[in-house]
Amino acid sequence: MPAIVLVGAQWGDEGKGKATDLLGSAVDYVVRFNGGNNAGHTVVIGNETYALHLLPSGILTPGVVPVIGNGVVIDLAVLFDEIDALEARRFDTSALVVSANAHLITPYNRTLDKVVERFLGTRRIGTTGRGIGPTYADKMSRVGIRVQDLFDEKILRQKVQGALEQKNQLLVKVYNRRAITVDSVADELLAFADRLRPMVADTARLLSRALDDGHTVLLEGAQATMLDVDHGTYPFVTSSSATAGGACTGSGIPPTRIDRVVGVIKAYTTRVGEGPFPTELLDADGQQLRDVGAEYGTTTGRPRRCGWFDAVIGRYAARVNGVTDFVLTKLDVLTGRDKIPVCVAYDVDGVRHHEMPMTQTELHHAVPVYEFLDGWSEDISAARSLTDLPDAAVRYVSAVGELCGAPVAAAGVGPRRDELIAIRDLV
Ligand code: GDP
Ligand code: IMO
Ligand code: MG
Repeated sequence: MPAIVLVGAQWGDEGKGKATDLLGSAVDYVVRFNGGNNAGHTVVIGNETYALHLLPSGILTPGVVPVIGNGVVIDLAVLFDEIDALEARRFDTSALVVSANAHLITPYNRTLDKVVERFLGTRRIGTTGRGIGPTYADKMSRVGIRVQDLFDEKILRQKVQGALEQKNQLLVKVYNRRAITVDSVADELLAFADRLRPMVADTARLLSRALDDGHTVLLEGAQATMLDVDHGTYPFVTSSSATAGGACTGSGIPPTRIDRVVGVIKAYTTRVGEGPFPTELLDADGQQLRDVGAEYGTTTGRPRRCGWFDAVIGRYAARVNGVTDFVLTKLDVLTGRDKIPVCVAYDVDGVRHHEMPMTQTELHHAVPVYEFLDGWSEDISAARSLTDLPDAAVRYVSAVGELCGAPVAAAGVGPRRDELIAIRDLV
């Protein structure tokens, strides 16, 4: 049985939470494989809205086993707050499994994220301030703290001490902050150990066995292609592998077991934080997309930068991730326009680019080349099949598939779980 990867095709907030929830009833396991509580995945069921940061969105579907994979970085206080909030809303979170190899976000990682951003000034990344970058940096530098370290107090204290010997130099001498003590960090982490222990497992082995037994595993990405540390708009990226390759390293599921890659893509484009964004609109059109699309961050509440659909990015995402199907979201937000511009290529200093330019300098200079598709004025939020849509909206959906090089399997026409047009099966 298959492993299915679900990733963001743009700069995040495409509606991965909703798309994961959509597949929830057809899968047995939902695994987060990257990122941490920088993510904010929204699921709307009836009149209830759920914003998930660390927990896989599959946790809202009874019977699904939610897994936090080894590629995730975990802030334990946030994890347990989220669990408690869901339990208070009568969701059963007892099936949650957490990888023993996942890394922990420590207080010094959070502090460093904030002070480094302040220090960078105009060169800042615009991070979520959750300690994500410093935690992944520690992982790569081999001074990270992992979930399993909580169960060997002596080792934990040794590792925290080793890490703090470097961090305190930085905090005190470079950033003019107070030193952090080993005890304060170890005590904060150890306070969660007993509660965490029953959830911890060798998740790579668990998932391998699940696939052997014929179960379906959905790998839910956080962030997105253009925020991927290798394939995104570096340095204006997050610090993890948010593309399909990251689903393998972040879960322990090998590439040969992945059958499908679903790219979630918004009918226009948004971005939070700094960095290049060729189709960005700084005018009334951008504000209208923000207002109608409610484009304010799920995690930080920051207004999202908005712009027209960018097919260069869609094509790039299809290629880098091997997208087999797109889920197109927020088609309803485009209702009421006479013509809808779609970026089909970039003009970079007089040269036409149909593919993502090789260098960041070129991307910074990219001027979108637009084609204008017909708009529609009918309310489409009640549409449940392509035949319910106005012709122009059907053409918009087809154009996205054709321009980006993979078929659109479903289209969102509203935030709620049922506000969706199913075009072809995803599982
Ligand atoms: P994620 O990070 O990719 O899971 O996306 P977010 O949850 O951060 O942002 C997507 C937002 O769009 C959420 O508020 C969703 O409820 C909302 N949403 C998802 N799909 C649709 C859709 O088809 N139409 C509309 N209007 N809103 C949608
Ligand atoms: P979901 O999963 C949108 C952005 C931040 C910043 C950059 C680096 O909800 O799509 P970080 O805190 O990760 O070091 O910040 O990445 N960013 C996101 N933007 N959606 C997200 O997650 C994001 N997670 C991080 O705004 O520009
Ligand atoms: Mg989000």
